Amino acid sequence: MIIKNGLITDPASRRSYTADLLIKDGILKKISGHIDASGEDQVIDASGLTIAPGLIDTHVHFRDPGFTHKETLHTGALSAAKGGFTSVICMANTSPVVDNTTVLSDILTRSRDEKIRIYQAASVSRSLKGEEMTDMAALRAYGACGFTDDGIPLRNAAFLYEAMERAKELDLPISLHEEDPAFIKNNGINHGPVSDELNIFGSPSIAEESLVARDCMLALRSGAHVVIQHISSGRSVELVRIFKSLGARLHAEATPHHFTLTDEAVLKYGTLAKMNPPLRGEKDRQAIIEGLSDGTIDIIATDHAPHSREEKERSITAAPSGIIGLETALALGITSLVRPGHLSLMQLLEKMTVNPAALYRLPAGKITEGEQADLVIFDPEEQWIPQEYASLSSNSPFTGWDLYGKVKITICGGSIVYQDQTP
Ligand code: DOR
Repeated sequence: MIIKNGLITDPASRRSYTADLLIKDGILKKISGHIDASGEDQVIDASGLTIAPGLIDTHVHFRDPGFTHKETLHTGALSAAKGGFTSVICMANTSPVVDNTTVLSDILTRSRDEKIRIYQAASVSRSLKGEEMTDMAALRAYGACGFTDDGIPLRNAAFLYEAMERAKELDLPISLHEEDPAFIKNNGINHGPVSDELNIFGSPSIAEESLVARDCMLALRSGAHVVIQHISSGRSVELVRIFKSLGARLHAEATPHHFTLTDEAVLKYGTLAKMNPPLRGEKDRQAIIEGLSDGTIDIIATDHAPHSREEKERSITAAPSGIIGLETALALGITSLVRPGHLSLMQLLEKMTVNPAALYRLPAGKITEGEQADLVIFDPEEQWIPQEYASLSSNSPFTGWDLYGKVKITICGGSIVYQDQTP
């Protein structure tokens, strides 16, 4: 395969240049100003398009096993490919939970049938109960790429500290869902004017901030690579900034919904704007954008959380939290961050490719000769409207939005795994 005339944007080298790419046997064989395409059976003309490393999402829920009416490994992989992602990390809150090597091996074995790279995180605690630690060494040996009880916070600080020490020994990241349930009466909706209007108490930001403060200290003391997942509060961003400057090996993920929307969206989109942690106020959104811009937040991850239509049609307090995100992530990054001038396209791509690859040591995230050919080809200027999803679910508040940045082709291991068919 030869890809001609694309604008290569490679965050690993921070270089942007026009070149041709030659791909053979799944490997990027040659990058050059001109490669002769005669005799090559597959030639892609990428004139006017941007070529970046295949995107990496460190936080997805593919619901398989256990909730395959919402998503499966297969539909999740299709959704990822459509969004330009070639590597994803699945969370452990499946049923059964990924807290043992049997469940882990089953998922990883079935993932090999899919056309993108699916990695799996294992849980920190058995059954996500926060009481008994999983056999982290065995899980690592069987291929777990990190540890997380995502969806459920770890309440016991001493337990978590020990888990951080083990994760450090195993040299894998530990990722944290930061919401102390003691503060929360109704999850998924920020406590504030919007929850007042809905006549509910909601979930105050102190629920997140108190755990972030605690865990920043545990990260500093343990020396583990600790990820604050889906950061939602401005004060949490400030805490991460301070503790990073003190030397903690901290990382933070921001989701496209937290940097695009505020809790006002709940009034407009109802349960489609309900997620954990919830959307907060405009000051928080601005603080997340500032954190992304100054490097405090190093990863953009979707928290792709499919739920069925029936579940999301329940009342605001009864519906489950979470929205899908893979198919709109790049466009929301371009629309909400790049076009308004908060981040350069290079900075955006850095947080969706090279940074996550470095943290999880994934063989991806750069455009270099000799590396596997995982690429996304997109038009950063093209406007489009999300209407239909490859995901099995469609719980997104962004359906019908006018977005910039359209994925045209996704290539994983040298094969086209998604191609835009719209004219
Ligand atoms: O809103 C959310 N939904 N947040 C999470 O952390 C978990 C996710 C889910 O699994 O549905």
